[in-house]
Amino acid sequence: MKAPITVSITGAAGQIGYALLFRIATGEIFGKDQPVNLRLIEIEPGMAALKGVMMELDDCAFPLLNEVVGTSCLNEGFKGANWALLVGSVPRKAGMERGDLLGINGKIFISQGQAISRNAARDVRVLVVGNPCNTNALIAMRHAVSIPDDRFFAMTRLDENRAKSQLARKAAVHPSKVTNLCIWGNHSATQYPDFTNAKINNRPCTDVISHVAWLKGEFITTVQQRGAAIIKARGASSAASAANAALDTVKSLITPTPKGDWHSVAVCSDGSYGIEPGLIASMPIRTNEEGTWEVVQGLPIDSFSQEKINATIAELKEERDAVKHLLP
Ligand code: NAD
Ligand code: LMR
Repeated sequence: MKAPITVSITGAAGQIGYALLFRIATGEIFGKDQPVNLRLIEIEPGMAALKGVMMELDDCAFPLLNEVVGTSCLNEGFKGANWALLVGSVPRKAGMERGDLLGINGKIFISQGQAISRNAARDVRVLVVGNPCNTNALIAMRHAVSIPDDRFFAMTRLDENRAKSQLARKAAVHPSKVTNLCIWGNHSATQYPDFTNAKINNRPCTDVISHVAWLKGEFITTVQQRGAAIIKARGASSAASAANAALDTVKSLITPTPKGDWHSVAVCSDGSYGIEPGLIASMPIRTNEEGTWEVVQGLPIDSFSQEKINATIAELKEERDAVKHLLP
């Protein structure tokens, strides 16, 4: 039997946590021969609910679940973490933008970054889901002084999955036929789902969907506004689809990407595509055979796309400037 992998999850008693933990415990993500330790982190008011979640984990008697720890202590929670999924934070309500949460959630990521730096395994990888996830990831990364920047990710996979579904419906194909879909920039209403480089059945998306006004208009706004539409319909922000996207992200970062394809995840920019170095921006990412990731280079960016990318990167700079006081 392999040595257990340790996954720390903040906000473990919340909506997304509830949709996440049980799937990790089944072995769906790290493999059917890979035992897992779960370290579940909540704030004090969430500890009673977390106790209930842990009772349910017990009641599943999962063969691969080695150890479960529930705690409100960050040092204990991130101890030995190989993966840290930072979900815990307040979701927005109807009428808010995700960026409105910066003042509430941003500061949480200072102590979490510091605690990860002090306690996690040396190979730790950190995925930030809590909104506004790009800038929260920036705060955590900057405070995790002992962890290389390339281990920090913010989630835009839900947007990628949403965009694929929209294109698939329009083209009357299954979503699995849509590939090469990159979300650029911020997980916000400025994000740019890049249909110009997307493929449907291995053909350029724009050859399959000739309705260019729809691609440039309704398609983009539907993806940008999908989170708000879910909140309006459900009265609560997306949870199962968000948990699913978090798991897709982890899987994509530990599994070689199929030849010629890529996935969307926000990473610390190295200046690729003219994006200011140091910003946590979503771009096309591939995982190679060695298990490391790289930015897919050389995608053609037309003037329409460039304008959209500029707008979302400008917003990321504004968010970074708004949290200057939280950065070391
Ligand atoms: P929720 O309110 O159901 O759960 C959040 C949990 O986090 C609660 O149990 C709360 O007690 C806990 N928490 C709050 N502060 C914490 C802290 N400092 N440390 C540990 N735990 C803490 O919310 P949810 O629906 O699970 O959403 C969580 C976050 O994920 C929100 O910010 C939401 O906007 C975001 N989200 C992001 C995406 C994305 O695509 N990036 C998608 C969906 C939701
Ligand atoms: C989403 O995209 O569904 C989440 O980020 C929640 C939200 O506030 O939109």
